[in-house]
Amino acid sequence: MGDIMTETIKNKVAAYLRLLTLHRGEAKEAYDQVASIYDDFAKVWDHAIAAPTLAYYNQIIEARVKPGALILEAAAGTGERTQALLRHSQPGEIIALDASAAMLDLARSKVQDPGCVLWPGI
Ligand SMILES: C[S@@+](CC[C@H](N)C(=O)[O-])C[C@H]1O[C@@H](n2cnc3c(N)ncnc32)[C@H](O)[C@@H]1O
Repeated sequence: MGDIMTETIKNKVAAYLRLLTLHRGEAKEAYDQVASIYDDFAKVWDHAIAAPTLAYYNQIIEARVKPGALILEAAAGTGERTQALLRHSQPGEIIALDASAAMLDLARSKVQDPGCVLWPGI
């Protein structure tokens, strides 16, 4: 049973990563353009609209991420969720990918954890 779950999760992750490759060029260009103002808008969104979802996300991290886990964070953006992962769990390594170099530059300015690699990818 455990093996079947693992295979199902692997397939879902692979399907998600394949989906991201479809729009990579568009996403890169659009997010490179808005990166410098992204966090100001995201802050409003996060507080006014997404607060309950983000609180739930943090609960899931605490409940599910085992100490020492290897985490693949797809579309990490400016690193806000990367920081949440580091605040709410003790991962062994986070590989955070994003198509936009400008978004990742902002993530790099916030996330200096040696166990976290920020990578232009997907
Ligand atoms: C709305 S932002 C969310 C960022 C972050 N996950 C967060 O919650 O703050 C979406 C991010 O996904 C990235 N993205 C969108 N499509 C992508 C793709 N096909 N490959 C890699 N990154 C992608 C964008 O560059 C952008 O940084």
